[in-house]
Amino acid sequence: MDKIRVIGGRKLSGNVTISGAKNAALPLMVASMLTADRLVLENVPDLADIKTMGDLLTTHGCKIDSLEKKNSLNQTLPKELSLQADRIDNATAGYDLVSRMRASILVLGPLLARIGSARVSLPGGCAIGTRPIDIHLSGLSQMGAEISLVDGYIEASVPTKLRGANISLPFPSVGATENLMMAAVLASGETRIKNAAREPEVVDLSKCLLKMGANISGIGSDDLIIEGKNILHGARHQVIPDRIEAGTYAMAAAITGGSINIVGADSDHLELPLEMLIRSGVTVSNTQDGINIAATRPIEATDISTNIYPGFPTDLQAQAMALMTIAKGTSAVTESIFENRFMHVPELARLGANISVKGGVAVVRGVEQLKGARLMATDLRASSSLVIAGLAAEGETVIDRVYHIDRGYERIEEKLSKIGAYITRETAS
Ligand code: EPZ
Repeated sequence: MDKIRVIGGRKLSGNVTISGAKNAALPLMVASMLTADRLVLENVPDLADIKTMGDLLTTHGCKIDSLEKKNSLNQTLPKELSLQADRIDNATAGYDLVSRMRASILVLGPLLARIGSARVSLPGGCAIGTRPIDIHLSGLSQMGAEISLVDGYIEASVPTKLRGANISLPFPSVGATENLMMAAVLASGETRIKNAAREPEVVDLSKCLLKMGANISGIGSDDLIIEGKNILHGARHQVIPDRIEAGTYAMAAAITGGSINIVGADSDHLELPLEMLIRSGVTVSNTQDGINIAATRPIEATDISTNIYPGFPTDLQAQAMALMTIAKGTSAVTESIFENRFMHVPELARLGANISVKGGVAVVRGVEQLKGARLMATDLRASSSLVIAGLAAEGETVIDRVYHIDRGYERIEEKLSKIGAYITRETAS
């Protein structure tokens, strides 16, 4: 297994370019199953999860071509994916792929909408929680799907066609909103999804579906109305920038006392994280091509509470906590979305961080200096928080199991090296 080695103490400076958003690209890839035409996606990030989703869609019969693009200087540009499911010849999503990536559950709605049946492995939990899919299943049942659980698989079918329904989500689940929206665009009649998720990645999917001929109103709100169509057609769509990657680099610059330009980031998608950075003494300014982050003063402790969008994103909680470990004062970090998203705490403690957890709140008392140590990555965002802390720690930090980080960060050691970090990857022989 690969390791990442970081020598701390260097200020980050320069430009870092943000890739396309993983959590937008994944549902967008699945949307290709809703039409027999070709869907072309631009600005697709080069990530392990994107490859896994490609493998899954291929098992369903989707043909996928990846177009490497270069500019006039022969520099690699973001990938363009061409996806075409002219027919679906397999309704089963197997355990091996689904257990590797929870987002696989998103094929459920499109399979039912396109061919009226689906057999999808239960995703199982993951490091950050049990992550049930009850909201997905109850919405699809209200649309006429007959669903049973057999030997760890969801077996779903609809005798004729999914029908529009009036669905109120008990929680604005991102995945459930995406699954139900993709089911509704081909259902007969009108579907209303109340208490829908409003994350930018959900909005990006809605906009792509509109380009494919879907009829959706209320985009960006928590109240979506979808008029089902008989068929959808192909489209070309550019994936939005990854707000979580951008926020991660912002926290990395802040903890090193550096100053960087985050090129391609959309500050509208990062309001609360940027407000939190300003509260902690960081200078944040919009530039014509992104966001400038400059940490010219000591970091002040400030409280963080995760929430649904537009609240502070749970996917930046671990990274913000890493920053608070060296802040002046005490910060309370409250995680309200997932029940077990503090796996980074014991690892940060190995660097000398002073954190005590009680229920969903981690109290972080800032320390003068972190000291490098050997660490273990546990989940995607926790891994990036360990890298951030390692950038500030004295001496060397080695992080094992970095396959977690490769799921959601494109070439992280290359991008960090380019802005001054001393970071290398050791590929296990
Ligand atoms: C998406 O996961 C993201 N993943 C997650 O990012 C992100 O943390 C999460 O949304 C919250 O913003 C992708 O988009 C691929 P949810 P998702 O359904 O859709 C509970 C990353 O690091 N819930 O909004 O699975 C659930 O247990 C990943 O990139 C139910 O109870 O999130 C959780 O507590 C991690 N029943 C809460 O809702 C359900 O049927 C939020 O889950 C569904 C969810």
